[in-house]
Amino acid sequence: MTVKIFDTPEVQDFLTTVAGFDQDGGNERTKQIMHRLLSDLYRLIDDFDVSEEEYWSAVNLLNALGSQTQFGLLSPGLGFDHYLDMRQDAIDAEAKRSGGTPRTIEGPLYVAGAPQAEGFARMDDGQDTDGETMWLTGQVRDVEGNPVAGAKVEIWHANSKGGYSFFDQTQSEYNLRRTILTDSEGRYTARSIIPSGYGVPVGAPTDVVLKALGRHGERPAHIHYFVSAPGHQHLTTQINLAGDPYTFDDFAFATREELVVPARRSEDAAEIASRQLDGPFAEVVFDVELAKTDAPELQVRHKRPRAMEDEQDQASQLAGTARV
Ligand code: DHB
Ligand code: FE
Repeated sequence: MTVKIFDTPEVQDFLTTVAGFDQDGGNERTKQIMHRLLSDLYRLIDDFDVSEEEYWSAVNLLNALGSQTQFGLLSPGLGFDHYLDMRQDAIDAEAKRSGGTPRTIEGPLYVAGAPQAEGFARMDDGQDTDGETMWLTGQVRDVEGNPVAGAKVEIWHANSKGGYSFFDQTQSEYNLRRTILTDSEGRYTARSIIPSGYGVPVGAPTDVVLKALGRHGERPAHIHYFVSAPGHQHLTTQINLAGDPYTFDDFAFATREELVVPARRSEDAAEIASRQLDGPFAEVVFDVELAKTDAPELQVRHKRPRAMEDEQDQASQLAGTARV
C-alpha cells in the first residue's frame, strides 16, 4: 500500500499556509526557503513512505544533536562545508579571480582572540609530553611571488590526543592557537607539537548519523589557517599531514591534493641548535599564496558565529573608548 498525497490541492494549499505566504509579516526569503524545504521533505515522506516511528526517531536525533551543540560537527560530515567551498571556488572562477592557495573548510573549532606575535610564536604550553615537537614555518607571497610582510596568519590545531583547547577543558587557555604576523620577508614560524588526527566523539549523535551511513568520523592530522593581508583575498584553509591513514579518507572532506604536506623528522644537532630546540623535531613547511583583491568584503573572513568572537569585538570597542 503506497499512498501519494503530495500533489493534491489540499496539501499544496496547506504548504502555502504553513510557510506563511498568506501573512503580511515575516521575512519573504525565509518564507520562500521554508516553503521549498518543507515541500521537499513532505514529498520525501510520501515517496519513501516514511513511518511515524521513523519520523519521530529523526526528531529525537535532531534534539540530541541540538542539545549537545553538534550541528556544527555534523555539517562537515554531511559535506555542507565542502559544498559551500565548491560554490565559493565556482564564484571565484566566474569572477575571473584565480591563483592563490586553495581554500578548504574552517571546521567548528576556531576560537577568536588567540595571543598575537610577530614572526615567531610558541603555540604549545609544554604540558603535552606525548607531543612530538613541531617546527611549522612558511612564507606568505602574492600571486607574483612577492613576499607579503605583516600578513596575519592565524593557526589552530589539536593536541596529541586530537583535542582542541577551549572545547577540551583539560587544556590551558589558547593552547595550540596563535596569531603570527609575518616578518619583513613574509615569513612566519611556530614551535608547537605535531597534532593527532581528530575523531567525532564515539556514541555522540553525529557518530550515530555517520554509523547509520556506514561511515567513520575520523579526520587526518591537520592544521587550520586563516591568512589575511590588506589588498589580498582572505584565505581559510588547512593542511593535512602526509602519511596519516585518513589523509585521503577525511570524514569532513577537507583534504585537497595541494594541501597535503609532509613532516620531515630531524635529529640533526646543528638543525636542533639553530632552532633553539632541546631534541629531535618534525619540520612542516607551508607556504601560502594570496590572491589580490580591492574589494574590502573579500579581505575579511565571512561572518558566522564563532567562539569568543563577540567578546573580542566588545573588548576592542572598549579599548577604543579608553583611548579617547
Ligand atoms: C570537525 C572537527 C575538526 O577538527 C575539523 O577541522 C572539522 C570538523 C568536526 O568535528 O566536525
Ligand atoms: Fe580541525
